[in-house]
Amino acid sequence: MKKVIAIYPGSFDPLTNGHLDLIERGSKIFDRLIVAILRNTEKTPLFSLAERREMMMAMTEQWDNVSVDTFEGLMVDYALKVEANAVLRGIRAISDYEYELQMALMNRKLAPNLETVFMMPAEAYSYLSSRLVREIAQLGGPISGLVPEVVERRLREKVEPAHKFEEVRTRRTGKKK
Ligand code: PNS
Repeated sequence: MKKVIAIYPGSFDPLTNGHLDLIERGSKIFDRLIVAILRNTEKTPLFSLAERREMMMAMTEQWDNVSVDTFEGLMVDYALKVEANAVLRGIRAISDYEYELQMALMNRKLAPNLETVFMMPAEAYSYLSSRLVREIAQLGGPISGLVPEVVERRLREKVEPAHKFEEVRTRRTGKKK
C-alpha cells in the first residue's frame, strides 16, 4: 500500500501545545510526518529559525515517525522535494476556515496531487495561537499550560529580563514572590 508522507508547515513562532496536539494526532494517521518550519521572509520572527527548529526537535523526539525540517519559498515546492503527498493543517474555529480553504485551494491549483488534510486540536487549545502567546508573554502575562515548559522559559528569557517580569507580576497580583 502507498505510504502517506505528510508535511505540517507553519511558522511555529513559538511552538504551542496546540501544535503538539496536532502533531501527535498526525503521527497516528500518517506513515511519516515532517514538521516544516517556515523561514519567514516578510515579518521578523521572535525566535530565529534555528531556535524554533531546536525547540521543535526537542518536543517531537518522542514520536519515531515525526521529523523536523525548515523551508523557504513555496510550500508546494518543498512538499514535492520531500515527496510528500499530504499537507496537515489545523482548524480551530470557523474563523480559521476561510483562510485555510483559500490556501488549500490555491495549493491544490499549484500542486494537484498534494492533498490538504485538516484536523482539529483538542478543544482546550481551540483559542490558542502563537500570536496571542507572544503578546501575552511580551506584556508579562502567564503562559503556562499554553506552551511547553522549555518554550515558556525561552520566551521569558527573550521578551522580559527576569526582574521586569517579576515587577509586572507583583503589580498584577499585589504579592511579592
Ligand atoms: O501556521 P502559519 O504560520 O499561518 O503557516 C502559514 C504557512 C507557512 C503554511 C504559509 O504561510 C505558507 O505555506 N507559506 C509558504 C509560502 C507559500 O507557499 N505561499 C502560498 C500559499 S497558497
